[in-house]
Amino acid sequence: MSRFLSPALEKITPYTPGEQPKGGNLIKLNTNESPFPPSPGVIKALSENESSRLNLYSDPTLSSFTDALSERFQVNKDQVYAGNGSDEVLAVAMYAFGADGFYAPDITYGFYPVIANFFGISYHTRPLKGDFTICTEDFFRAPGAVVIANPNAPTGISLPLSEIERILRENPDHVVIVDEAYVEFGGESAAKLISKYEQLLVIGTFSKAWNLAGARLGYAVGNAELIRDMNRLRFSFHPYNINRLSLIAGTKAVEEEEYYIECRKKIIDTRVRTIQTLVGMGFIATDSKANFIFVKPPIISAKELFDSLRARGIITRYFSGARVKEYLRITIGSDEQMDALLYAVSDILKEAKK
Ligand SMILES: Cc1ncc(COP(=O)(O)O)c(C=O)c1O
Repeated sequence: MSRFLSPALEKITPYTPGEQPKGGNLIKLNTNESPFPPSPGVIKALSENESSRLNLYSDPTLSSFTDALSERFQVNKDQVYAGNGSDEVLAVAMYAFGADGFYAPDITYGFYPVIANFFGISYHTRPLKGDFTICTEDFFRAPGAVVIANPNAPTGISLPLSEIERILRENPDHVVIVDEAYVEFGGESAAKLISKYEQLLVIGTFSKAWNLAGARLGYAVGNAELIRDMNRLRFSFHPYNINRLSLIAGTKAVEEEEYYIECRKKIIDTRVRTIQTLVGMGFIATDSKANFIFVKPPIISAKELFDSLRARGIITRYFSGARVKEYLRITIGSDEQMDALLYAVSDILKEAKK
């Protein structure tokens, strides 16, 4: 820390992102990206149109993208917000609506407490049950805003929409954020409830189910007043928050959702097959509805498996926290990548048995 840093910032604890290796022949199953490229129209549009116009600022209204999303979600144009990745959208929303603090499950996306800490927002957790499911009642009449990842991370477990609705009914006076980063892989979106609950903010990303992690695109869908509040913050901080290339990529991707639906189907099939094979080897797996699985190995510890896979060029994600340290989070890659993973796992377990 330099002696110039504001004293108020000395205590922030930055997030540690998953490893992003440069080059090498590694199989990357650690940050829940899609193994598939963006749709052909996205690649074509980027090379043809927008790159030659980078001398000009991007559109601060973001309207091509937000209009496409409003049609996709069948909501009004003023009910959609967009940002530079959903991390940025989450940060704006937590800052905007966090005056009374935020309440979240103890095991969830690790960026929520980091954002809260950064903005000086109090952050409180409620423990997941022993099977990693959310105890819905724990979030009734919360004294502050609520943030729930659904499906949750890193467990992949999805909470039925009826349970989300119970949380909404019991929290009429604080914002309830439902972070749907992984919803397209088998969850049920709460976006259809925004006209019923003025405090509901659904946040999503183009990093997982839209094959565009590198474009950094996120969005929120909610009551027009919430969206207006968030845009007030955006125009006080970063009006051109989405660059030209990403705007065109996101807009085109929404037009071509059929392609992404096929990619998602393949990922779901591969997830089912991978879980079946690992359970056959003695693993315990959660019922993941995401593009990753959360598994506990037999014979060896999760950390040992993580290290052995890493030594074989396969990167997964290990969290050392109290209740999750026995599990490994593995992104669902292509069939070939998962075959390589399964082969390596079986080999590692064989070695361990010797
Ligand atoms: C639950 C959850 N929310 C939000 C994000 C952030 O996604 P991005 O900033 O890439 O849109 C992630 C990323 O892994 C996540 O797991």
